[in-house]
Amino acid sequence: MSAAPHERWAFHQGEFVRAGDIRLGVGTQGLHYGTGVFEGIRAYAAAEGGDSLLFKAREHYERLHASCRLLRLDLPFGPAELVEVTRELILRNRLLGDVYVRPVVYKQALEPGTPFGVRLSGVSTAVSIVTLPMGDYGKAGGIRCGVSSWRRVPDASLPARGKITGAYANNALAVEEATAAGYDDAIMLNQRGTVAEASTANVFVVGSGSVSTPGPDSDILPGLTRAAVIRLLADQAELTVVERTVQRSELHLADEVFLTGTGCQIVPVTEIDGRPVGDGTPGPVTTLVREAYQRAARGADPVHRHWNTPVGFPVRTAARG
Ligand SMILES: Cc1ncc(COP(=O)(O)O)c(C=O)c1O
Repeated sequence: MSAAPHERWAFHQGEFVRAGDIRLGVGTQGLHYGTGVFEGIRAYAAAEGGDSLLFKAREHYERLHASCRLLRLDLPFGPAELVEVTRELILRNRLLGDVYVRPVVYKQALEPGTPFGVRLSGVSTAVSIVTLPMGDYGKAGGIRCGVSSWRRVPDASLPARGKITGAYANNALAVEEATAAGYDDAIMLNQRGTVAEASTANVFVVGSGSVSTPGPDSDILPGLTRAAVIRLLADQAELTVVERTVQRSELHLADEVFLTGTGCQIVPVTEIDGRPVGDGTPGPVTTLVREAYQRAARGADPVHRHWNTPVGFPVRTAARG
């Protein structure tokens, strides 16, 4: 059985410490102003051999660095070092199986001479990484979404391609509205009224024999799962995903809609605003993508093995207990 969250090892300010021993001051700037950035990374139980495999770990830490640049956060560890730290954290916590990794980098305290107030410069940076066991939470049979009345914050107001903590108040409002109305998740439009993304996932639309997804100019976070799916569809189904503006009405005429994200992985959307998507059941492209993604994530796809970083648990040949 895995340890209680406060007893688990965390990485905080360059050291491995028990999560319960971390103390953050109430003056933490990132807490007040949302001036932090984060990532969500998964490790999967390998299909064979008994190890776990981080999925696209290096790419996640490269995106974390890009987000840090946007907010002038000074992250003193490179992507390769952070991958190593993450492996060690999972090993220390003996989190064999499917795991979620949450690195967060945030503005901490005003440096001497910096006046009180909201700012980026003159504020120190803190970094913490925690891990937790996490299996599938996306519903394989499909989820019901509502189109949110809250528009996605545009890149002209807050960089959409950065994973900025403060921006998630926008997503939380959309989720709150959607779940209060009985939906599983929200699909958010951008300021232009075209489809942006779901609360923590990208949107794909299948119709008239083609697969489309809103492009980076639609105020999306360009997801790493999204990129993997574009690659998998090209390699395994010879389907080229079109990155383009997707209009709201296309959601109602699509044969299939599915979401992609590290947390939810690949999840079919079978109903939007009370209307069935296609015939109201997960369609063939969604099913193909789900299976291809699971194979790739668990190291069973030789073509995409470069996406997998072994954690380094001792290799066993017998099935896991
Ligand atoms: C707003 C938003 N869009 C899209 C995604 C999907 O990104 P990824 O596939 O890299 O997890 C996420 C999750 O990280 C997200 O928070």
